[in-house]
Amino acid sequence: MTITQLQKRYQALKNQGLNLDMTRGKPSPEQLDLSLPMLGLVGADNYTSEEGVDCRNYGGLDGLKAAKTLFSAFLEVEESEIIIGGNSSLTLMHDTMVNAMLHGFTDKGPWIQQKPKFICPAPGYDRHFNICHHLGIEAIRVENGPNGPNMDEVEALIANDPAIKGIWIVPKYGNPTGGICSDEVVNRLATMKIAANDFRIFWDNAYTVHHLNAEQPTIANILQACQAAGNPDRVFLFGSTSKITFAGAGVAMMGGSTNNMDWVRSHMKIQTIGSDKLNQLRHVRFFKSMDAIHQHMAKHAAILRPKFDMVLSVLEKEIGGTGMADWNNPQGGYFISLNTRPNRAKKVVQLAAEAGVKLTGAGAAFPYKNDPEDRNIRIAPSLPAIGDLEKATEILAVCIQLADMEG
Ligand SMILES: Cc1ncc(COP(=O)(O)O)c(C=O)c1O
Repeated sequence: MTITQLQKRYQALKNQGLNLDMTRGKPSPEQLDLSLPMLGLVGADNYTSEEGVDCRNYGGLDGLKAAKTLFSAFLEVEESEIIIGGNSSLTLMHDTMVNAMLHGFTDKGPWIQQKPKFICPAPGYDRHFNICHHLGIEAIRVENGPNGPNMDEVEALIANDPAIKGIWIVPKYGNPTGGICSDEVVNRLATMKIAANDFRIFWDNAYTVHHLNAEQPTIANILQACQAAGNPDRVFLFGSTSKITFAGAGVAMMGGSTNNMDWVRSHMKIQTIGSDKLNQLRHVRFFKSMDAIHQHMAKHAAILRPKFDMVLSVLEKEIGGTGMADWNNPQGGYFISLNTRPNRAKKVVQLAAEAGVKLTGAGAAFPYKNDPEDRNIRIAPSLPAIGDLEKATEILAVCIQLADMEG
């Protein structure tokens, strides 16, 4: 196709006056419908937990016992190694970071007094990086790939710089790479020599049960690996049911050594008397076991897989084999990560926006929103209806071709 023909095609697509939003990985209404029965499980005559707690009242700083039982299996930690939070794991991560900044972990004192830096594997989750930016923590980028972060880079950085206080990791179905941490990466994270004795891995297992295929990879247990290596306090684990039940009205949790959990509670008790136990009760009654969570997630996958397949098939049809872009076929999670040729991504996102398709800002998956090569685009297929996705991906593919030809 010549550039004039392509421009005409772009103009025709633009004239359709679409208004599609693929900026964030939100569940679709059909996915949210899957959890509607949960809302009926706690009401005027059944608000007392099975262990006899009146869930309408204060009490229970770190969660209902039944919630700890269920979600410790989910996070793969012991019941003594979990704290149930409110509705958002991001809040738990943010607050842990703030407490580390203000109070610190060891006799070295608050992080804020040590010009702290944090390792940010990228492409990664923009909101992780925003926490660093917001708190004045210098974000250091390392490469993030299909097996997790580039550990050679990580080890070289942390060996001699005591100001590097931690690393963000999304271990399974990374946002947006879809990467899955290999056993080797887990082992190296647990055993690596670190100059800072108050270093913490923020292990955000947001997509641990969010498989798109029948095949379900498992990853090595980071807390056990750290314990075996004599570094039990090295890791905080995070998770939530945001993309299992209701986004923004789920249950969040965090895990780690009993020492770390005591540290968290010592700060949490200043901040809250306790989280929403009625919501914990609803979740525990709805799910009862990990098996039930897996069955529920298979229903999510049945809705999501055709959407991912639609995006992948349109990309393949339009620009497969042209060298203009490459992308991954994730086995789980919420995103497809696409790379254009260098210096094209911003232009593609702008062209798509002008044609009525909103994409996450180019560079968003990098610290300081700076994609050094201006290549990466995050595609979030979950929210739009499948027909809209087809049109949106066609527009995206035409924009990639146009940006490529116009140079
Ligand atoms: C990697 C990752 N962590 C955390 C979150 C947000 O989790 P929550 O809703 O529990 O705050 C998201 C949401 O997109 C995410 O992609």
